[in-house]
Amino acid sequence: MGLRTVHPHGWIELDNEFPKYHAEKAARIEERGDKCVKTAPEALDAAIELLEELTAYLPARYPSLYKRTREGIDNLWSGESFNVVERPLREDPMAICGRLVQDDLAVLLEQPDGQYRLLAGSILLAGFWRLSDKFGMTLSDVHTSGDVPHFREKLETSMNKFFRRMKCDTFHARNNYFFQVDDGLGWSSSMGDEDAQKVARGTAPTEKAIEHHWFRSERQTLRRLPKTRAVAFTIRTYLVPVTEMAKEPYVPGRLASAVRSWDELVSSYKGKEEYAAVLLDFLDEKHKEQVDDGLDLEKEDEVRKYPW
Ligand code: HEM
Repeated sequence: MGLRTVHPHGWIELDNEFPKYHAEKAARIEERGDKCVKTAPEALDAAIELLEELTAYLPARYPSLYKRTREGIDNLWSGESFNVVERPLREDPMAICGRLVQDDLAVLLEQPDGQYRLLAGSILLAGFWRLSDKFGMTLSDVHTSGDVPHFREKLETSMNKFFRRMKCDTFHARNNYFFQVDDGLGWSSSMGDEDAQKVARGTAPTEKAIEHHWFRSERQTLRRLPKTRAVAFTIRTYLVPVTEMAKEPYVPGRLASAVRSWDELVSSYKGKEEYAAVLLDFLDEKHKEQVDDGLDLEKEDEVRKYPW
């Protein structure tokens, strides 16, 4: 499953792109409303618990950016003040959670049959999937409806077991990565119209110049909330031009070999046909330049260890 444990301090990551993420989220809450942000009535307590956890965590972890107040939390940079004790809350608790951090957030609740269902979400910058398609689904259906490669045979059983056993004091994280041939953070236009009945990655080669190729990676975390025992899932997206990524030592070579190692299902899921030719030519060329400039391939394993 590619999971690692993370120290609770490292639950949420923020960086200097906060203003951009915050503005895009605010615009999408305004324009798209409950297509992107929604809480089922039975998940309200869990969504409020997630909000309370963020209200406690953020000022402790990032004291120069947030301040705990009697009623809730202030964002010192944006000037926003959130009251988390009034009832009803002024907004869906998941909308407030979404405004507080760069991450997308989801809450899953265990059902009497042991399955986890996605019952609250603030999915504003997911790029290639829509909360409205997945809301209310079980964890398995969330994945099979998207044809996640090898889900049934490799992931389903261990994922369900992992969810049932998850403890409140251990936080988990995993990362993934994709490529896209546009710079859409909230919605990647390569997926077609966000409001189309069905969305799918393009399959025809775009032949776009490498400057239009972006590396998209999500840092996802999972934890169980102590009061409601719901599972909170956070998704922090990083979107970086491939031309920037490729400046990092070893990265062009590693990315190229990763893309070449995808089997047919993974290639189709990740839309490889759309960008592979241009991307691989570029990465091979940059790798060769690094080697010509003296990159020590023997040391790669050592460098790869950082930071985990
Ligand atoms: C143990 C935890 C989990 C594992 C190992 C896992 C694994 C995966 C994998 C392998 C993919 C394919 C893309 C990628 O490489 O990331 C994927 C996609 C996805 N996952 Fe998960 N996942 C986990 C938890 C969750 C949770 C809690 C949600 C709740 C919303 C979720 C929602 C999704 C969605 C929406 C997609 C995209 C599906 C699509 O393309 O339509 N995942 N997941």
